[in-house]
Order: sequence, then structure tokens, then C-alpha cells
Amino acid sequence: SPFKSIAIDGPAGAGKSTIAKKVAETLGYVYIDTGAMYRAIAYECIRKNINIKDEEAINTLCSNIDIIIQYVDGEQQVLLNNENVTHYIRTTEVGNVTSQISVYHNVRKKLVELQQKLAHQANVIMDGRDIGTYVLPNANLKIFLTASIEQRAQRRWKELNDKGDQTQLKTLEAQIKERDYNDMNRKIAPLKKAEDAIEVDTSNMSIEEVVKKVISLYNKRI
Ligand code: C5P
Repeated sequence: SPFKSIAIDGPAGAGKSTIAKKVAETLGYVYIDTGAMYRAIAYECIRKNINIKDEEAINTLCSNIDIIIQYVDGEQQVLLNNENVTHYIRTTEVGNVTSQISVYHNVRKKLVELQQKLAHQANVIMDGRDIGTYVLPNANLKIFLTASIEQRAQRRWKELNDKGDQTQLKTLEAQIKERDYNDMNRKIAPLKKAEDAIEVDTSNMSIEEVVKKVISLYNKRI
């Protein structure tokens, strides 16, 4: 590919999307949120009342849905059969279902193809769970972004609390742990640090410090 790419992977709530968006802005790259694509499929399963244990039903769903990624004023939008679902997929319910349907081969195959196609059209910074290991094995820079479970739950709590959501810190911590467990222990493309990824622990770093660090690592690479 004539285009450059940065891969950012890591557990839930490590700040991947916040950091990736800012790095994309600084470099003039396209930010691709792959979690949103898995979330869109989970959202359709919930809406259609599909049993998430029924892989056949999910296979059928996958062959019948069309997922399109578009950018409006620099913001990624997910279109599911031409309906803009971007604002319906961010709930914790959708997040939890997502980690259960993202284990299926057909779900991953469909989305990985779309992600690789997008990376062949522009310079990109892509975040997810399997970007450095699987989707973009030749990325120019791979970051594995982590933070302690306490920090991640705390950040998520603050984000939700600001929106008026009263979910308890302990509940969020348990949900994050379960999601990470599912993502790290699935058979296909589990969450793990790529051998050539650089781990950045953001527990004691500000957003600005992390952005600076990623940009400086990138500048050393290209
Ligand atoms: O990053 P986000 O929280 O939106 O991801 C939601 C879920 O989607 C993850 O917990 C994971 O199960 C799945 N996912 C994945 N591979 C990716 C991105 C997300 O399996 N590349």
C-alpha cells in the first residue's frame, strides 16, 4: 500500500479512541474506529432479537447486512443498511453484546475486509483489538495502550456520570473485566500485544502526554 498506517490496540477503556482521534488530527490522517463496526452488528442482533449464541443466525445476518463507513466533518459514521446508527451503538449494553458476537469467524471476516480496504485508501490510524496482530500486520507503528483496571473503570465512570448515567464504579469495573476476558480468550484474533508493538501504560499520563508520546514514536519510525 502507498499509504501509511498506525495501529492502536488495547483493553477496554484504555483511551484508544481519544488518543487516536487526536493523533489523526495532528498528522492529518483518517481515524478508523473498528469497535464501532462490531458494535453496529451487535446492535442489529439486539434489535432483531437474534440469539447471540446462535452462530448460524449471526452468519445469516452477516450476509444480509451492509456496513458502510463514511466521514462527515471528520467524524466517522457507521451506516447499517444505509441507516446511520452511529449514535445508538455507544451504550454499555451494546458493548457487552459486542464482545460476545465478535468471536465469530464470519463477523470478523466481513469487518476485517472492510478495515483493510479502508487502509488502502488513505493514511490511517486504526484502533481495536487485533489491528497490529491481524488487520494491519505491516503498520508503520503499533501501539499497545494500557492502563490499570482501576483507572479505566474510573475514567469510564466519569464519562458516564457527566452524561447523567448513575452506573456504579464496581459494576463498570466488572463489565470491563468481563469484556477484556472475552476479548483475550477468544480463538480467533484475540486481544494481545503484537510482538513489534510498543506498550504505553497511560495510568499516570495525561491525554496530551500520551498524544505527544505516540507522535514522537511515530516520527522516529518514518
Ligand atoms: O473498542 P470498543 O469498546 O468499541 O469495542 C467493542 C468490542 O468490539 C470489543 O470489546 C471487542 O469485543 C470488539 N472488537 C474486536 N476487534 C476490534 C475492535 C473491537 O473484537 N478490532
